[in-house]
Amino acid sequence: MAGLLVLGAGYLGAKLAEIALAAGREVTLADNWYATDRDQVAELERSGARVVTADIRDRRALDRLLDSEPERVYLLAAQASRPLSESDPDYTEETNLTGARRVAEAVVEAGGPALVYASSLQVYGPGLRGTVDPDRPYGRQGDLAHLSKVYAELCLELYAHRHGFDLALLRLGIVYGPSPVEHARPESQTVVDKFRRLAADGEPLPLDDGGRATIGLVHVEDAAAIVLAAPSSTGVSRANVAAETVTVADVAALARGDRPEGRPAWSVASDFEYRHSVAGYFAGP
Ligand SMILES: NC(=O)c1ccc[n+]([C@@H]2O[C@H](COP(=O)([O-])OP(=O)(O)OC[C@H]3O[C@@H](n4cnc5c(N)ncnc54)[C@H](O)[C@@H]3O)[C@@H](O)[C@H]2O)c1
Repeated sequence: MAGLLVLGAGYLGAKLAEIALAAGREVTLADNWYATDRDQVAELERSGARVVTADIRDRRALDRLLDSEPERVYLLAAQASRPLSESDPDYTEETNLTGARRVAEAVVEAGGPALVYASSLQVYGPGLRGTVDPDRPYGRQGDLAHLSKVYAELCLELYAHRHGFDLALLRLGIVYGPSPVEHARPESQTVVDKFRRLAADGEPLPLDDGGRATIGLVHVEDAAAIVLAAPSSTGVSRANVAAETVTVADVAALARGDRPEGRPAWSVASDFEYRHSVAGYFAGP
């Protein structure tokens, strides 16, 4: 069976690799170690993953990876942090824009294995109301890390249409829960795990604007399983990957063991099955 090429051995890529290896799949994990240390994937390597140092901005490195004729390519490598997109806009653009385009070119050159791209619910912009399905137009963007998702989606779609490879654009909510790769840097931690840690330490939970913002959430095990199984159809497909929407104030209430108010401003349309909920995560060990 042809293997899986995971570009980006970070938080999501490592969990995806773990699940794929457990299912007996052959996995190559490639990363330039910008946000992840190579040591963090040593256990996955011992479990059978092929770990390669490669930069998605480097077309020749991509071609070498695709020489092994993977069945699917997962583009999870990105400069995903908003604060880092402000301190290093050039790197953010080079990786998220040029890098994404070069991945599409390398996929075409390799004869078009299916490509799966980890995008974000943030493409819909702020001020959402109602049920947000994947036909909702793109909205205003507040930083380069998320703006680049819009470009990468459209660029990958352009190449997929022009050259006829299957492409899944998966718009993920905020991902939480344990993964073989977790980042210690505060700017890389998402609200669920940050609140879980602060609540466990008896610290106050900081709420911007009273925590009124509504966010989409997905446990990393659910997210990785959904990404791994994509694409589920031929051609270009778009889907939301979030089990639920909650307000940040509700995440804080659940972290403290209080009852959430349960009034998110919008809800997410997503056809996948989810095993985890944020309430269950906070109630668990
Ligand atoms: N984690 C979330 O909450 C979340 C939510 C929505 C969307 N996403 C998207 O999912 C994808 C994966 O997210 P993640 O949480 O695993 O992020 P992550 O930062 O843990 O992983 C990204 C990996 O890409 C690597 N990388 C950066 N630049 C590179 C380059 N030029 N070449 C090769 N590798 C490079 C980093 O070293 C890192 O290991 C990202 O595109 C992210 O925007 C994540």
